[in-house]
Amino acid sequence: MLILGIESSCDETAAAVLRDGNTLLSNVINSQVAVHSPYGGVVPELASRKHLENIYPVVESALSLAGISLDDLDGLAVTQGPGLVGSLLVGLSFAKAISAVKGLPYVGVDHIVGHLLSPFLEKEQPTFPYIALVASGGHSSIFLVRDHTSIQLLGRTRDDAAGEAFDKVGKMLGLEYPGGPVISRLAEGGNPAAIPFPRAWLAPDSLDFSFSGLKTAVANYLHQRQQKNEPFNIPDVCASFQEAVVEVLCEKVLKAAKIHQISTVALAGGVAANARLRASLQNLGAQRGIKIFMPSFELCTDNAAMIALAGFYHFSTQATTSFDTDAYSRSPILQPGSAFADNSPPPAKVSAAP
Ligand code: KG4
Ligand code: ZN
Repeated sequence: MLILGIESSCDETAAAVLRDGNTLLSNVINSQVAVHSPYGGVVPELASRKHLENIYPVVESALSLAGISLDDLDGLAVTQGPGLVGSLLVGLSFAKAISAVKGLPYVGVDHIVGHLLSPFLEKEQPTFPYIALVASGGHSSIFLVRDHTSIQLLGRTRDDAAGEAFDKVGKMLGLEYPGGPVISRLAEGGNPAAIPFPRAWLAPDSLDFSFSGLKTAVANYLHQRQQKNEPFNIPDVCASFQEAVVEVLCEKVLKAAKIHQISTVALAGGVAANARLRASLQNLGAQRGIKIFMPSFELCTDNAAMIALAGFYHFSTQATTSFDTDAYSRSPILQPGSAFADNSPPPAKVSAAP
C-alpha cells in the first residue's frame, strides 16, 4: 500500500511516501525557519502564504524521489490538526483536491498521534503498551499508548510547552530562532549545575508539567545580573536551564511508567532531538530497567513520514475522512481523560470524485 503523507501544521511544509507502513520511499521537508527567524517566532499569516508556495513543489519532489506518480498511490494522509488553522488548511485542501481528482481515499491525521507513532518508522520498535512523551514547540504531554489507535492522555503542560520554553529563553538570550537547537548546542560548553533553576514537580504523583516558573526564573536571573552590571556566562545559563527541563521531563515520564507498571518508554516531538534529553533518558532507563525508544533526529521534528504512518494505521481500520471535514486547532487527544479511540470521528467513506 502506497500512502502520500502531507504535513503543514506549523512552519514546515512536508510530504512523504510510505510503502506498506514500513518503508519510507521519500521524506521531503521545506522549513520556513528563515522566514520567521527575524520575528523570533512563527508569524501565522506568513506561514500559510509560504505553505501555499511550497506545497506543490514539495509534494512533487516527494513523489519523484519515491519514483512514483499520483496514479500509483493507494491513499493520502494529511495533518488535520492541531496547529495553525490557516497553515493546516493548505495541506488539507491540497490533499482533498488530489483525493477528488484521482478518486483516492484520504484520512485526516492528528499531528500529535503522528509524533507518538514516529518510533515505528525506525527498525527497532516499541511493543505495546508503552508510555510516550511528546515534547514539541506546541505540546508537552505524556500518553499511555495501548495500540496504534488507542491512546490515553496521562499528563500535560499547564502552561508553556517544553519547546516553547526553549524558544522563549533563546529569545531572552538574543539567540537565533528557534532557540531549542541553539541552546542545546551552547549548553555543551556550559555547566548544568552552575545556576540552580527551579524544577516544577507539582503534586507528588502529578504527571503534569509547568515550565512558566522556570522561564521567569531565567528572566529574573538575567535581569538581576544586568542590573548589577555583572556578566553572565551564556553556556552556563543554557546548560542549567536545559538541565531543569530535561530532569523534569525524564522523571515524569519514568514516573508514568512506574505508576502504570510499563517497561517501555518512547520519546517524540521536536524536543526529543535534544542530545542531553536523549542521553539522560537512556541512562535513567538503563538504571531502572526501562527500555527507551526514540526516533532519529530528522523524524523527531515535524515531518510527513509520521503522518503517512498514522494514516496507514487509520486505513488498516478501514477509516477514511469525508470531504466536509475541517481543520482543527486543538487536539481531541489532549482533552483530560480522553482515550483517543473514543474521541476519533466515526469512520466515513470518501465521497466519489465530483
Ligand atoms: O515537533 P516540532 O518540530 O514542531 C511542533 O510541533 O512544535 O518541534 C519544534 C520545537 C521547537 O520549539 C524547537 O526549539 C524544539 O522543538 N527543538 C529543540 C531541539 N530541536 C528542536 N529543543 C531542544 N533541543 C533541541 N535540540
Ligand atoms: Zn510537531
